[in-house]
Amino acid sequence: MGTKTRWGIISTGNIAGKLAEATRLVPDAELLAVGSRTQSSADAFGETHGIPRCYGSYEDLVEDPDVDVVYVATPHNLHHANTLLALEAGKHVLCEKPLAVNAREAEEMIATAREKGLFLMEAMWTRFLPSWADIKARLDAGEFGAIRSLQADFCIERAYDPKHRLFNPDLAGGALLDLGIYPLSLASWLLGQPKTTSSWAELAPTGVDRRAAITFTYGGGRFAQLSTASDVWSMVDATIVTEKKLVRAHRLFIDARSYEVVDFDRTEIVRKPYENGFEFEVRHTMERIGAGQTESEVMSLDESLAIMQTMDALRAEWGVKYPFE
Ligand SMILES: NC(=O)c1ccc[n+]([C@@H]2O[C@H](COP(=O)([O-])OP(=O)(O)OC[C@H]3O[C@@H](n4cnc5c(N)ncnc54)[C@H](OP(=O)(O)O)[C@@H]3O)[C@@H](O)[C@H]2O)c1
Repeated sequence: MGTKTRWGIISTGNIAGKLAEATRLVPDAELLAVGSRTQSSADAFGETHGIPRCYGSYEDLVEDPDVDVVYVATPHNLHHANTLLALEAGKHVLCEKPLAVNAREAEEMIATAREKGLFLMEAMWTRFLPSWADIKARLDAGEFGAIRSLQADFCIERAYDPKHRLFNPDLAGGALLDLGIYPLSLASWLLGQPKTTSSWAELAPTGVDRRAAITFTYGGGRFAQLSTASDVWSMVDATIVTEKKLVRAHRLFIDARSYEVVDFDRTEIVRKPYENGFEFEVRHTMERIGAGQTESEVMSLDESLAIMQTMDALRAEWGVKYPFE
C-alpha cells in the first residue's frame, strides 16, 4: 500500500455519493475507482466526484490492482456477494449496514475476511461521529454512572412503493434491516446482548416489516425500548437514562451534531459539528488498516454477527422471510 489509501466504491447510489464526498475530507484517502452495473453510470459518478478510473462492472473494479479498500454500497441483498467478491480479490472491505441479510451470510463473510487476513467492517457510521464518540467515552469513564434504560427510534415516512429498497423483499427490504438496525446497534453498543426480547410488527403488502416496536431486557432491571418504521415519522432521538443524568441525542441517526446532558435543574448542551459525517468511519477504517488490524474494536465483527442473529430472531417472530432465503 502506498502512502495514500486508495478507495474503490461499488455502486453509484445515494450513499455511495455521500462516502465519495467524505473521502475528500480525509487527507490520506484517495478515491481511485468506482464500479457500477453500467459504464454510463460509472462515468457519470466519476465525473461528479472526480474519480479517475470508472468501471462498468463490480468485477472489473475489484480486479484493479491499485485499489486497497472497497466500499460496498449496494442494496442489502448484495452485501454478501459483493463483499466476498472484493475479499476474494484481496481487498479490504467497508460494507454498508446491515453487514448481511442474515447471520448465515454474515458468518461466511467474516470467516472469509479472517481466513484471508483482510479488514472487514460494517459501516455503522454513527458510532464514529464526534457526538457519539464523546457520549460513549463519558459513559465508559463512569461520568454518568451505570445505564438504567435506553429509548431510541428511527422512523421515516416514505410513500409505499413495492419496488423501493425499503419495501422490496427481493432487495431484503423492511424497516428493521434498513432503519431499525441503528437503534438496535446503539442498544448493543451501550447495553450488550439482550437477555429477553418482546416485539410487535406490522407488515407491508409486500410481506416485509414496515413498523415495529421492540423491548429488550438485560438483567438488573435494565431495558431498551426501540422503534422503527418506514411509513410514519418519529423524532429519531435517543434518551439514555443513567444513575446520575439523562443523556439525550436528537436526530441521532441523521444529523447528530449535538447532545444534551440533563440534570434535575440544569441542561448541558454539547455541540460537535462536522462537515459530512462519513469522514470519521473512512478515517477509522484507514487507521485500522494502516495499523495492520483486520477488524475494528469500535464495530467488531462478532458484534455485527450478534446483531444479525437478533434481527434474524425478530424476523422469524414476525414471519418475514426473503424469497432467496
Ligand atoms: N449509512 C447510511 O446513512 C445509509 C443511508 C442510506 C442507505 N444506506 C445503506 O447503503 C446501501 C445502499 O443504499 P442507497 O440509499 O445508496 O441505495 P440506492 O440509492 O438505491 O443505491 C444502490 C445502488 O446499488 C446498485 N445496485 C445494484 N443492484 C441493484 C438493484 N437490484 N437495485 C437497485 N440498485 C442496485 C446501484 O448502483 P449501480 O447501478 O451503479 O450498480 C444503485 O445505485 C443500503 O445497504 C443501505 O442500507 C446507508
